[in-house]
Amino acid sequence: MKKYKIATIPGDGIGPEVMDAALSILRKLENGRDVSFDFIELSAGDETLKKTGSALPSETLRGIKQSDVCLFAAVGETAKDVIIPLRQGLDLYANIRPAKVYPNVPHIGKDVDLVIIRENTEDLYKRVGFQADDWGVSLRIITRQASERIARFAFELAKKEERKRVTCVHKANVLDNDIIFTEACRRVSKEYPSIEYEETIVDACAMKLILKPEHFDVVVTTNMFGDILSDEAAGLVGGLGMAPSGNIGDRYAIFEPVHGSAPDIAGRGIANPIAMVLSVVMMLKWLGELELSRILENAIVDVLKEGRVLTPDLGGKAGTKDVSEAIEEKINRKGF
Ligand code: NAI
Ligand code: MG
Repeated sequence: MKKYKIATIPGDGIGPEVMDAALSILRKLENGRDVSFDFIELSAGDETLKKTGSALPSETLRGIKQSDVCLFAAVGETAKDVIIPLRQGLDLYANIRPAKVYPNVPHIGKDVDLVIIRENTEDLYKRVGFQADDWGVSLRIITRQASERIARFAFELAKKEERKRVTCVHKANVLDNDIIFTEACRRVSKEYPSIEYEETIVDACAMKLILKPEHFDVVVTTNMFGDILSDEAAGLVGGLGMAPSGNIGDRYAIFEPVHGSAPDIAGRGIANPIAMVLSVVMMLKWLGELELSRILENAIVDVLKEGRVLTPDLGGKAGTKDVSEAIEEKINRKGF
């Protein structure tokens, strides 16, 4: 029996709602199979700050380090004091953000299946700078070491997933430190002659993503460009309710939907749980549970294909729980 210790951080707003859906589905996946999940709930976020005086208590960090992997839903205003310190503190240097068109999901009509690999530890997110009364400075830190390591991660992922092209996205025509990033990508690309390599300036890339998204396969970029382009890519495939992600390091990993706590719909039971559940698919793959990840992704696809149980963001009337139950039913019925 394979046993996994999974740290869970439900957080704020719709976070606990989509986390409930994910955990209930994982329990269903355990049924009758040689695998078991031990969930360790940890706290972080706005509510935690109110209760304990810290948005990211040290027990939470310790709990993640003692687990095999962590599932994170979403936090609210304290995001910059929670998810950014987690990414940097645990050296989760690669942020994987796939954008894929699934059946029946309203999208802009192109066949998108791309993955953005965003450097996750430096750039403006290092938060080195200062603020005066009416001006401020944020330093954009880019190192050769971090650039090479994210470039290698992108090429390795391309190789593993049999993807054909890696696009390095930058602003080296204006920002000198992006020369370090592009040169690193170019050097690493030489080690992978069978994968096509190209470089695109970020503003041109933002436009091309709309006009010709099917061109992109693997995109590797710096932290802030990756943040912005991945939301744009999510918009191409049905919005934030469909966008999963993984934060990966050499020792630890945290999987989370791209969306935040969505205060505008929190507490109404209508959040789309699919971004969270697709993050679980990514987690299962990372754990090496390929068969389980396939079963779960197929169950999601089946529910979408039928198009009967969809949340309002996808044009339906169903609630969060209806969607998770529909996915569970598919897992059951197929008797996988
Ligand atoms: P958001 O992602 O929470 O919401 C943006 C829009 O997308 C809203 O209209 C929301 O209703 C919708 N949406 C998001 N997830 C959805 C889902 N699963 N199903 C259906 N609709 C969904 O971003 P926003 O509004 O900019 O930020 C709200 C709060 O979340 C802020 O306090 C922000 O700091 C925090 N945040 C946290 C993140 C994290 O925990 N990693 C990431 C982004 C924002
Ligand atoms: Mg973002």
